[in-house]
Amino acid sequence: MAGRFITLEGIDGAGKSTHLDWLKQYLEQHGREVVITREPGGTPLGEKLREILLSHPMHPETEALLMFAARREHLDKVILPALAAGKWVVSDRFSDASFAYQGGGRGLAETKLQTLEEWVQQGLQPDLTLLFDVPVEVGRQRLAGNAMLDRFEQERQDFFQRVRQAYLRRASRQPARMRVINAARSLDEIRDELKEIVSSL
Ligand code: ADP
Ligand code: TYD
Repeated sequence: MAGRFITLEGIDGAGKSTHLDWLKQYLEQHGREVVITREPGGTPLGEKLREILLSHPMHPETEALLMFAARREHLDKVILPALAAGKWVVSDRFSDASFAYQGGGRGLAETKLQTLEEWVQQGLQPDLTLLFDVPVEVGRQRLAGNAMLDRFEQERQDFFQRVRQAYLRRASRQPARMRVINAARSLDEIRDELKEIVSSL
């Protein structure tokens, strides 16, 4: 049986990492072989690019190019081989994040990002994208306990407003693939909804 490709998206502090661990366990209980990964990152080179991306100031187009460079490597070394082997791949972020952060947040033209997307993904899209949506203030409050904030997390409130709106716009255009989850609720309520959505796969 072919594998499935699930991605988790949302602004920082929405709860992606929290739900990722639970989703892995849930899928494994249902007999799936699960590969957990993340972007930017997921490969040795991708993790090096991640370190640079999260700390080094750069032009917004450089940022987009490095995100997609890491993604090219990630697809080649991790995602495509796992899917071919029938595994389920769950990634903490993928290209919707580039449209939301570099497009919405930084203001890069969507057409430029689409060119990179076609080049790198050659038509491949996740089977399912879970968009964890929270008001920006909620995301910030949840991050408030973190000792160190990275280059993105240090951005201002209006940056995250644009990122959130870009995610929601994208989800409204691709409703079959992207499911918007109200992530301001309790973990139990969110998990019940996730069970329903994932069982449809
Ligand atoms: P992300 O990976 O999207 O940045 P995390 O999963 O790291 O977010 O969550 C950020 C913080 O918010 C963590 O301390 C986590 O325990 C908490 N959190 C996540 N989801 C919820 C929720 N539904 N209710 C309350 N706290 C939550
Ligand atoms: P993430 O791993 O979610 O950070 P954390 O573990 O601190 O929650 O993602 C790192 C940052 O990278 C996040 O702020 C969003 C950003 N990002 C982009 O700007 N574009 C992209 O294409 C991706 C994949 C991530």
